[in-house]
Amino acid sequence: MEFSDLALQRRSVRAYEDKPVDPALIEQILQAAQLAPTWKNSQTGRYYVAATPEAQAKIRACLPSFNQRSSDHAALIVTAYVKDVSGFTAGQPDNELGNQWGAYDLGLQNAYLVLKARELGLDTLIMGIRDEAALRAAAGIPDTEAVFSVIALGYRAQEPSLRPRKALSDVTRFL
Ligand SMILES: Cc1cc2nc3c(=O)[nH]c(=O)nc-3n(C[C@H](O)[C@H](O)[C@H](O)COP(=O)(O)O)c2cc1C
Repeated sequence: MEFSDLALQRRSVRAYEDKPVDPALIEQILQAAQLAPTWKNSQTGRYYVAATPEAQAKIRACLPSFNQRSSDHAALIVTAYVKDVSGFTAGQPDNELGNQWGAYDLGLQNAYLVLKARELGLDTLIMGIRDEAALRAAAGIPDTEAVFSVIALGYRAQEPSLRPRKALSDVTRFL
């Protein structure tokens, strides 16, 4: 599929069919995420995958009720990154943004992830509203990693319309 079609078709999907996602497809999607550029190729993104009903229930319990409802039946991927590596040299931040570069890298990887999912006929919902401490405990995420989104992954049971975007002129200035 052409990139423009893929980008247009991707939507945040908040209703999923009761249909399991093959772990082999999840691996393909995560391999695509690994192709994203990262600071000095540091690849600090980490993924904790809940693909069985038991694991999904454990991770879903770490979400507020509205996100639990939106991600019902979906596989869940907790995304994190290893701190103090991306944007750092010999343990010191390379510039004022420090660990924000790890977040930047993870965002890029997650963008590849959601687009690859769409290419394979799957849909996603990135959820930033979640209980970080509960996720750490449920997925066994060490303190050396920063916990970011939980991404729901499954087969869409709704057709959301394209949400409006700002005019390019509102967000861009050619110098
Ligand atoms: C970092 C991030 C966190 C988000 N957190 C949530 C969330 O907790 N719950 C939710 O329903 N949507 C969440 N969203 C989805 C956004 O609301 C959605 O991407 C936006 O409204 C644009 O719609 P679209 O993805 O369909 O283009 C999040 C998106 C991002 C990128």
